[in-house]
Amino acid sequence: MKQVKDQFNRPLRDIRISLTDQCNFRCSYCMPAEIFGPDYPFLPKEHYLSFSEIIRVVQAVTELGVEKVRLTGGEPLLRKDLPELIHDLYTKTMIKDIALTTNGVLLPKYAKELKDAGLQRVNISMDALDDDIFKRMNGRSVSVKTVLKGIEAAKSAGLDIKINMVVKKGVNDEQILPMAAYFKNEGIPLRFIEFMDVGSTNGWQLSSVVSKQEIVERIDRQFPVKPVDKAYYGEVADRYIYADGSGEFGVISSVTESFCSTCTRARVSADGKLYTCLFATKGHDLKPVLRSSALVEEVKEYIASIWQRRTDRYSDERTEETAKKRPKIEMSYIGG
Ligand code: GTP
Ligand code: 5AD
Ligand code: SF4
Ligand code: SF4
Repeated sequence: MKQVKDQFNRPLRDIRISLTDQCNFRCSYCMPAEIFGPDYPFLPKEHYLSFSEIIRVVQAVTELGVEKVRLTGGEPLLRKDLPELIHDLYTKTMIKDIALTTNGVLLPKYAKELKDAGLQRVNISMDALDDDIFKRMNGRSVSVKTVLKGIEAAKSAGLDIKINMVVKKGVNDEQILPMAAYFKNEGIPLRFIEFMDVGSTNGWQLSSVVSKQEIVERIDRQFPVKPVDKAYYGEVADRYIYADGSGEFGVISSVTESFCSTCTRARVSADGKLYTCLFATKGHDLKPVLRSSALVEEVKEYIASIWQRRTDRYSDERTEETAKKRPKIEMSYIGG
């Protein structure tokens, strides 16, 4: 199989597909409620890629060396008939790893069905154990208990689970230790994510970022930890294990220690635009090639030609200036 590499020799390994730009949360760092209100121009549903178009994209990229697909949003569980799409991915493509990033609220309803359809892993967002802090951060007053029920449902269904916690200074950083202690005890890997300047609506400031170094130091003081190697090439989290043998956690440090040099990820928005960076300004519309009854081979050549021209390394180049001035697409649109 032909591996496709970009201008910095980075292979395409990972495809992340957003299924909708809508969400039932309004996390302050992603979809601030004052901006994503009733008048926000979400994508019309008729513009979404159909399941059969998604399948052709995935068939094409597997021929370029991609083994992993992650379904994102917005909130991917809001997309109608998601189990059907997962079943199609599992049965009609050569993809090996099917994963989902979700806020967890709808997992009690769907976890079992998703697992039966072929889903292997879920990454669930949870930013605090304290109910008041969590309710404030998710912007919809959803309680911690609701998400814990989602986690429990995923566990009972036999899905592999990781938890994502975005850390914002002065908002939830006092939750670093309680969250670490809780998920250490549960045996579920928790990943702390440095607050990023994705999009242009979340009011990002460097002063709101809690660095990877600080996160690790705070945990290490309470529970001694040691670093371990990444689990796979291009993994975004740096991993640590607890010295007492009770599991691991990770830190995703896009701001203070960027990882663009091993970035293997392409993203497809719900309306079928291919983005070669989370912080891109412009995407490449896949719809014309998908709708011209092109063969999978042609879709593959088109995606390969885009990847081969790729030079993105936004996080390596980030300054307070680029964070404020560069027009960027929203996280809820491009997927996390
Ligand atoms: P695994 O497949 O379990 O390793 O998960 P993942 O880390 O690929 O997926 P997830 O959707 O949980 O990603 C966690 C967070 O990492 C995302 O929401 C982003 O905040 C951040 N992230 C993921 N990929 C990238 C990337 O390519 N660049 C940057 N800057 N951040 C990323
Ligand atoms: N900074 C860092 N991570 C973010 N996410 C959303 N917005 C941001 C941001 N501004 C993460 C969420 C979730 C995934 C979908 O993206 O935590 O895990
Ligand atoms: Fe929704 Fe996830 Fe964005 Fe929160 S981070 S608003 S749950 S898409
Ligand atoms: Fe990849 Fe862009 Fe993230 Fe760098 S900033 S790791 S190039 S997605």
